[in-house]
Amino acid sequence: MKKRPAVDLQVTIGSRVFVKYLGRDAIRARIRELGRDISVDYRDKYPVFIVILNGAFMFAADLVRATSLECELQFVKLASYEDIHSTGKVKKIIGLPVPLTDRHVIVVEDIVDTGRTMLTMIEDLKQMKPASLSIATLLLKPDCLQVPIDSSYVGFEIPDAFVIGYGLDLDGKARNLPDIYQLKSDHS
Ligand code: IMP
Repeated sequence: MKKRPAVDLQVTIGSRVFVKYLGRDAIRARIRELGRDISVDYRDKYPVFIVILNGAFMFAADLVRATSLECELQFVKLASYEDIHSTGKVKKIIGLPVPLTDRHVIVVEDIVDTGRTMLTMIEDLKQMKPASLSIATLLLKPDCLQVPIDSSYVGFEIPDAFVIGYGLDLDGKARNLPDIYQLKSDHS
């Protein structure tokens, strides 16, 4: 991955060029708002955040620190993407080690695209009979949704273009970037 040394307005991975789309300050400010909303909604409910790895690790770390709640964190690992396209298949790689019966559950995801990953997750979690189930996603691509997903906490609605950075990767690269970059279309 090549990064321009002085101005980090563009990132190049292989032959693909990404342009800066959401800066770290805007991300931080929005997460602070989400954290405040969640703190109000879940006061005295001792929720459990279920973080979907790998992509949501950075968002989750900032989100839970933006809340003022007593809570628990659990992690699951799912994958559905290869290169910049959804494979359409969702694999569960690491399952849930704890019972969630009567717990208030908040699923934390980096991005909801087709919604298939989240649907699989939600269907599995419902079997565990939680008291409530909600979704916190940093990004949502409304134009790409193929299944109905109701996300209570959405950081940003974005257009149908591949994004990287702040936890989001392209084949394992770029997760560590503090800002979010969008794939430059051939026309821009
Ligand atoms: P979905 O099942 O199509 O909603 O895709 C969800 C998963 O695909 C996310 O958890 C991401 O890991 C990955 N994904 C979807 N869109 C993007 C993107 O624009 N950049 C990076 N990863 C993405």
